Amino acid sequence: MNKIAHISDLHFGRVDPDLADALIKDLEELAPVLVIISGDITQRARARQFAAARDFLDRIPFPKLIVPGNHDIPLYNLGRRFLSPLGRYKRYISQELNPSFINNELAVFGINTARPFTWINGRISDSQIEQVCAKAGKLSPALFKIAVTHHPFIPPPRGAPLSVVGRARKSLTALESCGFELVLSGHFHMAYSGDVTVEAVDRRILVVHASTVSTRRRGEPNAYNIIEINPPRLSVISRVWDGSRFYSAMQSNFIMKGRLWEKR
Ligand SMILES: [Fe+2]
Ligand SMILES: [Fe+2]
Repeated sequence: MNKIAHISDLHFGRVDPDLADALIKDLEELAPVLVIISGDITQRARARQFAAARDFLDRIPFPKLIVPGNHDIPLYNLGRRFLSPLGRYKRYISQELNPSFINNELAVFGINTARPFTWINGRISDSQIEQVCAKAGKLSPALFKIAVTHHPFIPPPRGAPLSVVGRARKSLTALESCGFELVLSGHFHMAYSGDVTVEAVDRRILVVHASTVSTRRRGEPNAYNIIEINPPRLSVISRVWDGSRFYSAMQSNFIMKGRLWEKR
């Protein structure tokens, strides 16, 4: 069984230090094989915000896979936004914008959807999908394959309609056809865990969204997900911050039968 942590939307510059400390303590106790952070590492892509994020990341004693979000590209500094959109991200977080993590059972691929022109909604390109499918295609079909993006492929099941990433449907279909079983995203600051959204195509891909661990909340508590992967079974556990500690608020269990995910 592989246990991974899925955190999103830290928004350094808008982070409660007590919450950040508690998050690291919680991760240390749960000991995931991988900590995934699906973008919006900072609030305004400022150097001091990236430096604070770097200090926080260095305190997490587990492998990490991180992708940028729209807030990691400057919004108001137009020169930097268009000439070096992810320059600071590369300097402080990682040179690799499409990172991967592979062990004996998992293959996880990050896909950068942050763009200076389509700043809010992001975009995914045909070449990115071709490249990730080519890499996944060289691996054993037995590996459980996960894609990570900041921008979501499907809208939230509740509330006002929100836009998904450019080329979402096409990309989700392509990822499904090249063997991906799970997609993890953030951006909306809404967890669809609890009512995790099962979506798409022939329902082979399970789509899970993490909430935020920042003060930019959208009517939901701060939370992140622990995902336990034991094919054909998968569980999503929502770890919610109650003001003093994280606790398991809800668990959603799935089993893949044939080519379909069934919620148990
Ligand atoms: Fe965000
Ligand atoms: Fe975002």
